Amino acid sequence: MTPPEPWWKTAVVYQIYPRSFADSNGDGVGDLSGILARLDYLAWLGVDVLWLSPVYPSPQDDAGYDISDYQDIDPVFGTLDDFDAMLAAVHERGMRLVMDLVVNHTSDEHPWFVDARAGPGSARRDWYWWRPPRDGMAAGAPGAEPTNWGSAFSGSAWELDEASGEYFLHLFSRKQPDLNWENPAVREAIYAMMRWWLDRGVDGFRMDVINLISKVPDLPDGPVSPARAPFADALPFVNCGPRIHEFLQEMHREVFAGRADRLLTVGEMPGVTVEEARLFTDPARAEVDMVFQFEHVNLDQGDSKWDVRPLRLLDLKASFGRWQAGLAEHGWNSLYWNNHDQPRVVSRFGDDGEHRVRSAKMLGTVLHLHRGTPYVYEGEELGMTNAPFRGIEDFRDIEALNHYAEAIAAGDDAEDVLRALRTMGRDNARTPMQWDASEHAGFTTGTPWLAVNPNHADINAEAARADPDSVLHHYRGLIELRHTEPAVALGDFTMRMADDERVYAFTRRLGDVELFVLGNFSSANAAAPEAAGWAASELLVRNYDPPATAEEHGTLRPWEARVYKRTA
Ligand code: NOJ
Repeated sequence: MTPPEPWWKTAVVYQIYPRSFADSNGDGVGDLSGILARLDYLAWLGVDVLWLSPVYPSPQDDAGYDISDYQDIDPVFGTLDDFDAMLAAVHERGMRLVMDLVVNHTSDEHPWFVDARAGPGSARRDWYWWRPPRDGMAAGAPGAEPTNWGSAFSGSAWELDEASGEYFLHLFSRKQPDLNWENPAVREAIYAMMRWWLDRGVDGFRMDVINLISKVPDLPDGPVSPARAPFADALPFVNCGPRIHEFLQEMHREVFAGRADRLLTVGEMPGVTVEEARLFTDPARAEVDMVFQFEHVNLDQGDSKWDVRPLRLLDLKASFGRWQAGLAEHGWNSLYWNNHDQPRVVSRFGDDGEHRVRSAKMLGTVLHLHRGTPYVYEGEELGMTNAPFRGIEDFRDIEALNHYAEAIAAGDDAEDVLRALRTMGRDNARTPMQWDASEHAGFTTGTPWLAVNPNHADINAEAARADPDSVLHHYRGLIELRHTEPAVALGDFTMRMADDERVYAFTRRLGDVELFVLGNFSSANAAAPEAAGWAASELLVRNYDPPATAEEHGTLRPWEARVYKRTA
């Protein structure tokens, strides 16, 4: 007998960025009680799983991805009691809750690192990556760092500990030291912490940069990349390192075994290839259920994310097409346009001006009709846009602030740097959720930690719910379609019109049911002659009134999306 399909194949996940979702106490920062108060909205939307970005105690150097205590809640978000109340309310509404698991690194204020830093003889020294200065060089001298790796947040990936004269590795900020997974005690402590959350009732984990936990142990220098000079990209030495599959299989055995069926596990994996992803997500290997890959969100950039280029639709189709094919037989895709690290998709790949509503619906349609589990990021279902940041004082994100400081110090033009930050900066995703048209968008009664987008006067959940033609109602329909039409969740995938530069088209087939999905990625009419042959079929999804004649079916209007269904 073939085992039943996992429940998450028909599920849609909604990501909450707690700082920016809903503030219940007027301190300007979102919190757990704020989430609790908005759960009915999420249940109405129809999502199956909520993923919470980190709510653990944290100095907030990287907005909570720098954790100083894995088994508590940061007071800014509430208490463990608030958490339990929220979790129970999530479950009462038939939804599940997935926690962010950030275990490539801790905060430098985590007791583990405080102990490690106490000196070379401390019990937990080896829980992190410590190295002496480069041979023959004095600690602190320029270029004395143990390797030439750059950090993801500018500067070197090594920080000198003055007291011991040794450096510690931090692939992200200097307040995010990397854990040494080679040490079995580190792994056991992490597994125990994960079991503690599962015993508390959470339904799985989104694992932050989990493919970086196994490093090439001798930590070699890399080739200096022009975009990062004088630094090298660390990724080749830390992405899917030698023991990554062993570690994830061990985690599965130690943490998930016996309860894996009710959980959802997703590994965030920058730089992962489709071949690696197949290994990670092949159920026979018992590692993770699905991965977040980055290929499609790197297509509109050159050597670095700040080197912004226009997206070529052909590149997007080629990339998604390879992932759909690569995980067709073994493994599973996750599908996303947005998260807290990406600019808003309607501003990025759509048209956030005249065609905002239509293009947001088209983008949602194309994504959700792929094979895989879709992730909706808070506000995406409203068609929220990038924010009108003026100067650097409007930004809060460490990545943006560090990049700006480094680029200005290197002599770059401030306006050029700001233009890239406005386009790609992570704060675009982090402006508060737009609940209504009131002063702070119904997010807070206080002063929001990051300014609300002024367009909340028009773009907000209250207005969208009252308007049956809104992006919100469209997303609700897409989520329902995944629940009710098995071909959406389980059908196979065939790319159509692969060489067309404006139209994204594909079919999905399950048994005798076939769906034809079309999206026009442009503000002009686009020919789609194949659609004329579907004129007599049911139109399941659309963002315009239906075309009348067969010829009209053969042309897509600006940003038009259609999903046809026929049964053989
Ligand atoms: C990926 C997270 O999504 C991002 O927000 C964070 O800055 C890095 N990992 C480091 O934890």
